[in-house]
Amino acid sequence: SRTVGRGPDGAVTVGGLDVARLAEEFGTPAYILDEDDFRARCRAWRGAFGEGADVFYAGKAFLSRAVVRWLHEEGLNLDVCSGGELATALAAGMPAERIALHGNNKSQEEIERAVREGVGRIVLDSFQEIVRVAHIAQRLGRRQRVQIRVTVGVEAHTHEFIATAHEDQKFGIPLAGGQAAEAVRRTLGLDSLELAGIHSHIGSQIFDTSGFEVAAHRVVGLLKQVRDEHGVELPEIDLGGGLGIAYTSDDDPREPHEIAKALGEIVTRECESAGLAVPRISVEPGRAIVGPTAFTLYEVGTVKPLAGLRTYVSVDGGMSDNIRTALYDAEYTVALVSRRSDAEPMLSRVVGKHCESGDIVVRDAFLPADLAPGDLIAVPATGAYCRSMASNYNHALRPPVVSVKDGAARVIVRRETEEDLLRLDVG
Ligand code: LLP
Repeated sequence: SRTVGRGPDGAVTVGGLDVARLAEEFGTPAYILDEDDFRARCRAWRGAFGEGADVFYAGKAFLSRAVVRWLHEEGLNLDVCSGGELATALAAGMPAERIALHGNNKSQEEIERAVREGVGRIVLDSFQEIVRVAHIAQRLGRRQRVQIRVTVGVEAHTHEFIATAHEDQKFGIPLAGGQAAEAVRRTLGLDSLELAGIHSHIGSQIFDTSGFEVAAHRVVGLLKQVRDEHGVELPEIDLGGGLGIAYTSDDDPREPHEIAKALGEIVTRECESAGLAVPRISVEPGRAIVGPTAFTLYEVGTVKPLAGLRTYVSVDGGMSDNIRTALYDAEYTVALVSRRSDAEPMLSRVVGKHCESGDIVVRDAFLPADLAPGDLIAVPATGAYCRSMASNYNHALRPPVVSVKDGAARVIVRRETEEDLLRLDVG
């Protein structure tokens, strides 16, 4: 995050606060989130896309009421993909018209709540859902704005589990075989739906813009087909999220203004050559906004050198607060943050305290050879998909999220307690 530095005693500071003090006050493990950095990234996205476009923050990356308020204040919209995310957004005062509801299997209740509250758009993901949403809207006497999510057949160069635009997966309606065109035809035929546009999301942790360009090209192709067949020019296209961030120094992320420029140019060019008015563009970054704004602070518990192999450094969290390493082979870095050390680097693996050997937080890392129990270490870039995918495996208590700003720290999601766990266990 942007406000990280080192204090006079060698300890790392963030938002003007010493990490050792944060650990003392809030305990470890903890996610420490830099509010100024979060807001700066929101502004960078807003500024890059300008008034003619919309930025929907993808709540799945990390959502809390404080985050919703920041988004609202910074002029971003919000993409939610479950009733729980919708409830959080509404509870924190996000105007419903600035919310988009996603999901490949939204429940009747989720759709009903979204329609009743008046969400700005529901992204339709299947033929059955077109009918389902139409019925609910009709019953409630509403005309619901919708987009249709299509799969454009782009292979995003990312982990299989987070790539979403190739055809053999569960999301969206394929452009191939005229299926998306058929979905448009059916949607246009339903009075309780207002088809605002086409949606495409090609995957996550993507570094080059070429996948987006191919997607934009194909989506505009569909818009043209719709205009030719129905005489209707759909006013919106959404190109999803997926912009990569730097987890390690090998990653070279694109800046929001580069993305905005590339998308704006390709959509404008394609529309001009198709004789279409340029639609309003929206995007849905999650990771690129929140990912870099937080780090996880852990306390070292044991240090176990295995001769000729590496040193296993066990921390007080693990796969319950960061499943990404185990699930996607994700790479992270780590640093000693509670003091400065000039000791030799030692090849280390940072592991958690869970009962399985795949419980790895950082697979390969160098930490100083004098690392000892009680030291604090930090894993950067854990703002996205860590707290939001955290679990209670081994009845771990999920860590708090502490936001820092201008020398003050504030808990925005508190640490779970044993009471929280036992409250759910009613047997
Ligand atoms: N829009 C849609 C429709 C999405 O499905 C997603 C992510 C996003 C936007 C935001 O993508 P982002 O900009 O954050 O990459 N748990 C995985 C990532 C799953 C992403 C799912 N959809 C991970 O930890 O890498």
